[in-house]
Amino acid sequence: MDTATNQKHDSQPYYVAVNDEEKIFTAAFNQGLSILLKGPTGCGKTRFVEAMAHKLRRPLVTVSCHDDLTTADLVGRFLLNGGKTEWVDGPLTKAVREGAICYLDEVVEARKDTTVVLHPLADYRRQLPLERLGITLDAAPGFCLVVSYNPGYQSVLKDLKDSTRQRMVAIEFDFPAPEVEERILAVEAGISAADAAKLVRFAQAIRRLENAGLREVASTRVLIAAGLLMREGLSAAVAAKTAIAGPLSDDAQVTKGLIKMIEVYLND
Ligand SMILES: Nc1ncnc2c1ncn2[C@@H]1O[C@H](COP(=O)(O)OP(=O)(O)O)[C@@H](O)[C@H]1O
Ligand SMILES: [Mg+2]
Repeated sequence: MDTATNQKHDSQPYYVAVNDEEKIFTAAFNQGLSILLKGPTGCGKTRFVEAMAHKLRRPLVTVSCHDDLTTADLVGRFLLNGGKTEWVDGPLTKAVREGAICYLDEVVEARKDTTVVLHPLADYRRQLPLERLGITLDAAPGFCLVVSYNPGYQSVLKDLKDSTRQRMVAIEFDFPAPEVEERILAVEAGISAADAAKLVRFAQAIRRLENAGLREVASTRVLIAAGLLMREGLSAAVAAKTAIAGPLSDDAQVTKGLIKMIEVYLND
């Protein structure tokens, strides 16, 4: 069973708008449209959904998708409880009933037979059929289906079905502009503007590399990890080596190249 988390309306999650994504999300939400968030890992998609759920005052139900995820994991199943079988709602059903924002993170990881259940929910019908119960639920007002995926990081096989995609509004994400990313980094890692700027310059250099044998480039998330290490007193070079170069590659040649770049960009 996968984890579903319910977000409480405590404080507004910190999110710096990069583009017009908040406006688009709000418009789509108001019109009951489903939303597709596309972008590389660690660029702020999850944080964005958390911030929007708070702004729109909706509960948030998050499901991290993986290839063992079944329809029952999403919609629910009968479970034995003290000799009786009892229906237990899955996270999707819960979200449909309570009018929550349901966020399916990395949806392409889920098998196609699992995502079929999303079709009548994603379009104008806004319905969830619960075959095991023989009923169909109408989504409560405020329900919104949001799915995310990383377009650069998937096999053609795992591509979303066209019929699913065409039922969604797409918002494209990328890493923020340097000034914005520096600000995020300074706030999230609690480091100086100068240190943040240094890390961002290094990340920009990695992102400019082509055919460097990297599956992923340095994300905002790994920069924050490096920043947190710097806050503990580690040098920028050591922080970048452990939090950026290490996680990005296992290949000795590629790592060597990254270390060279660290020497250029981050040696004080
Ligand atoms: N625009 C942003 N505003 C505030 N924080 C951000 C922003 N973009 C990225 N972050 C930071 O980067 C981290 C990783 O982002 P996350 O939302 O987990 O990425 P994704 O879901 O795209 O993989 C977040 O925890 C947050 O600290
Ligand atoms: Mg995420």
